[in-house]
This record gives sequence, structure tokens and C-alpha cells, in this order.
Amino acid sequence: MTQPFQAVLAAIEQLVTEHPELAPQIEAIAARARARTSGDRPPRAEQAPPQGAPAEDVSAREVFRKVYAQGHWGRSDDPEQPFFSGRGSHDAAFVEPYVTAVGRFLSAAPVRFSALDVGCGDFNVGSRLRPLCAAYTACDVVEELIAHNKVQFRHLDVDFRVLDLVRDALPHADVIFVRQVLQHLSNAQIATAAAKLAASCRYLVVTEHLPGGGAFEANLDKPAGADIRLAFRSGVVLTEPPFGLAPASREVLCEVPAGAGVVRTMLYRFA
Ligand SMILES: C[S@@+](CC[C@H](N)C(=O)[O-])C[C@H]1O[C@@H](n2cnc3c(N)ncnc32)[C@H](O)[C@@H]1O
Repeated sequence: MTQPFQAVLAAIEQLVTEHPELAPQIEAIAARARARTSGDRPPRAEQAPPQGAPAEDVSAREVFRKVYAQGHWGRSDDPEQPFFSGRGSHDAAFVEPYVTAVGRFLSAAPVRFSALDVGCGDFNVGSRLRPLCAAYTACDVVEELIAHNKVQFRHLDVDFRVLDLVRDALPHADVIFVRQVLQHLSNAQIATAAAKLAASCRYLVVTEHLPGGGAFEANLDKPAGADIRLAFRSGVVLTEPPFGLAPASREVLCEVPAGAGVVRTMLYRFA
């Protein structure tokens, strides 16, 4: 093997180590390459639409149940923990700045806010914010994950619910947290979700993994899945077309470098 190829393979190795969430996308590229060289058609699930093409709407429930069952975001070192929402939900480098920034916002409020945590995942992050809020509802589309959270976090007085942000009605709360959820959805799903989120709270705290290093084309489409738009240098920005969220004000609560991108948390306030 020639040296340039070895360098590329080393770079891919590093990319997957730093971003296990990109593994399915890299596997799909490899499968397409194998199919081209062997003359086989890749399995249907691996025929991703062209980058930025409109994506078919699929049930988030089925997609994310499979993501957890197959460990697409990695696995916990603790064999007692069957669900793992990824490095972004566990590494201190990502979790601590987020908890500090959101904690500062919550603590500055004159009253304790009621909170809705949408796509709460394994609740490693949400469990840190819970003590700073009044009533706390945490929901996710994966039924088995919510059943597990109900037991593991029973001491935290959280109303855990199975809820699909795209298909179900949202309960109202003072503040809604949506952390690294929208980045996994298709544009059609995000558009439906964004309208509901804006109508269900006064403050919306949204965290997204975005490309770093200057301008990028926001909101290129992709199907719902473990992967994110970073792979084709795009990312979800709710205030850009086609979503056009129009909050009364917006501010960056925190931003953490993450590989070739940044994990940015926005606070949107609605009138
Ligand atoms: C990467 S995890 C992030 C978990 C958590 N917010 C955190 O930051 O640790 C994304 C979560 O969003 C959930 N999710 C995806 N689509 C959803 C939907 N339509 N409704 C509710 N939850 C959804 C997934 O099941 C998964 O648990």
C-alpha cells in the first residue's frame, strides 16, 4: 500500500475514534465501494440518497431503536448500562461546558423553570440539569430506553415518557432542551419538530454539532439516522431556511470544539 493511502486510512481511523457517530456513514461508503468493485448492488439500506437530497421520512422510533441495539454511538464500559448515547453525552470535554453554561442560565432566572428534555437519551446529561429545574419531563422515542431510565433515575423525580418529537404532541414547559437530537433527523422531521418546539416553551436550548472553520451550507438534507450532516460539511441551523425559526432573541450559550467542527448550544427566547 502506498504512503498517501496509509495516511488516509490513519486519518479515517482517527475520525472514527473521535466521532464514533460517523461510523455508519463510513461503513456505507465502504459498502458502496465494495459493491462497485464486485458488481453487486449494495443492500437497500446502504443506498444513501445523494448528499443534500431530500430524504424520505422514516419512523424515528425504528431508526433509533436500531441505533441503540447495534451500538452505533458506541457502548458503555459499564455492562449494566445497555444504552449509550455517544461520546457527546459522556465526555467531560463536551458535558461540563454545557452543564455549566445551561446551569448559569437556569440559576439566573427569578424562579425555577419547568423543563422538557426532548430526546433525553441515556440521561447522563439531563440528570445533571434536573436538580436546577422545577417539574422535569424527559422523553425519547425509544421505548426500552425510557423503561430503563425510569428505573435507573427513579430517585430524581423525573416524568419519563415515550414521545416522538415529530409525530406526537409536546407538553408545554418554561424551557425545552434539545441536545444533539435534531442533527440526526431529516429536514422534513426537523421542520415539523421546530414548529412544535417554538409553540411549546418560552426558552428553547438547542445543541447541534456544526462544521467549524468558517461558512458552511446549513440544513442540507439527510435521512434520519446515527450520522450527522458534518460528513458533508453541513449542520442544522433552525433560523436558516427551510426552517426559518424566528425567536424574539437568540444567543450562543456555549461552544466546544469537536474534531472538524464545534458543538454549539443556542438559547432561543420566544415572546
Ligand atoms: C445523540 S442522542 C442525545 C441524547 C441526549 N440529548 C444527550 O445529549 O445526551 C439523540 C437522542 O434523540 C432521540 N431521538 C431521535 N429522534 C427522536 C424523536 N423523533 N423524538 C424523540 N427523541 C428522538 C434518540 O433516540 C436519542 O436518544
